[in-house]
Amino acid sequence: MAFPERRLRRLRRTPALRRLVAETRLTVDDLVAPLFVREGIVDPQPIVSLPGVVQHTRESLRQEVRELVDLGVPAVILFGVPASKDAAGTGASDPDGIVQVALRDLRDEFGDEIVLMADLCLDEYTDHGHCGLLTPAGTVDNDATLERYAQVAVAQADAGVDVCAPSGMMDGQVRAIRAALDGSSHADTAILAYAAKYASALYGPFRDAVDVEIADGGDRRAYQQDWHNVRESLAEVQADLDEGADMVMVKPALTYLDVLTKVRAMTDVPLAAYHVSGEYAMVHAAAEKGWIDGDAVALEQLTAVKRAGADMVLTYFTRSVAEVLYP
Ligand code: PBG
Repeated sequence: MAFPERRLRRLRRTPALRRLVAETRLTVDDLVAPLFVREGIVDPQPIVSLPGVVQHTRESLRQEVRELVDLGVPAVILFGVPASKDAAGTGASDPDGIVQVALRDLRDEFGDEIVLMADLCLDEYTDHGHCGLLTPAGTVDNDATLERYAQVAVAQADAGVDVCAPSGMMDGQVRAIRAALDGSSHADTAILAYAAKYASALYGPFRDAVDVEIADGGDRRAYQQDWHNVRESLAEVQADLDEGADMVMVKPALTYLDVLTKVRAMTDVPLAAYHVSGEYAMVHAAAEKGWIDGDAVALEQLTAVKRAGADMVLTYFTRSVAEVLYP
C-alpha cells in the first residue's frame, strides 16, 4: 500500500520535532500571579478552597514576590483583605489601606523588577460585598461608584502601582479612572480593563480568599455579564478601548475561549485572560483524588488559553508552572 500523500503523523514522531513545529508556546513571560494580602494578621492564612494559595502578611507577600522575581515572573496582581469593612469600602482608597501599604513595600524592595498590578474594585472592602455603593433601594449605584473607583485609582497610583485593573463592571469605569489618573499626574499608570467579565459560578473560592459574602444571598448579575452572550463582550471591549484601556481582559478563561478568540480578532491591544479560582480549584480537587494529573492539566489549560488568543494569563498556577517552565 502506498502512503497517502499527506501524512499528518510525520511531524509528531519525536519530542524535538513536536517542539520545532509547536504553534503556541506558554512561557514564564505570559504569567501574572494573583496574590492576596490581609491586614492585621501575623501568619499567612491558608485558603481551604485554593490549595497552595494563602492570605499573605506584608512580610510573606514580600518573600513570595522575591521568589516570583527569581523565577522570572513578570507581574503580580494584588487583592487586599482589610481588617474592617464598611458600606463605602473605605479601605480601598485609604493611603494606609492594605493594598496601598503592600504596593509601597514591593515598590521599595523590587523597583521596576516586576510589574505591580492591583485589582481595582470595592467588593473586598464593602460590608455588603457588592462591587460598588448601594442606593437606598439596594441596587449598585453606577455613577456614585465611579467616583469611588477614581479615588481608589489615585490611591493605588500614589502607592506605586504600574497597572490598575478595574474589575467592578460599572459602565464608564475606564473613562473615570483614566481621567482621575491623568488629573493627578499619573499619566504613566496603565489600565488593564476586566472588559468581558461574566457573572460566573467559578469565583466561589475567590470569595473565600477575600472573605466576601454578598448580602442577602445576592449576586452580581445586575453588573457582571450574562454568560449566554458573546456579542455583548465585544461591545464591552470596544467601550473600554474607547475610554482608554491599555489592555483588556476576558474572565473566566476556559469556559470563554470563544470570547477570547473573538476579542483577539477585534483588537491588537494586549489581551489577558483570568484563569479564575474555580478553574484552579477544580484541577486541584480532581488531582487530589488521583483522577487527573494536575500539573499536566494545568499546562494544557493555560496553553489552550494562549492558543485561543490571550497574550497573558492571570493564574494561581503561576508559581508551579514557572517552576516547570523555568529554563
Ligand atoms: C472583584 C473580583 C473577583 C475576582 C477578581 N476580581 C470576584 C467577583 O467578581 O466576584 C474573581 C477572581 C477569581 O475567582 O479567581 N474584585
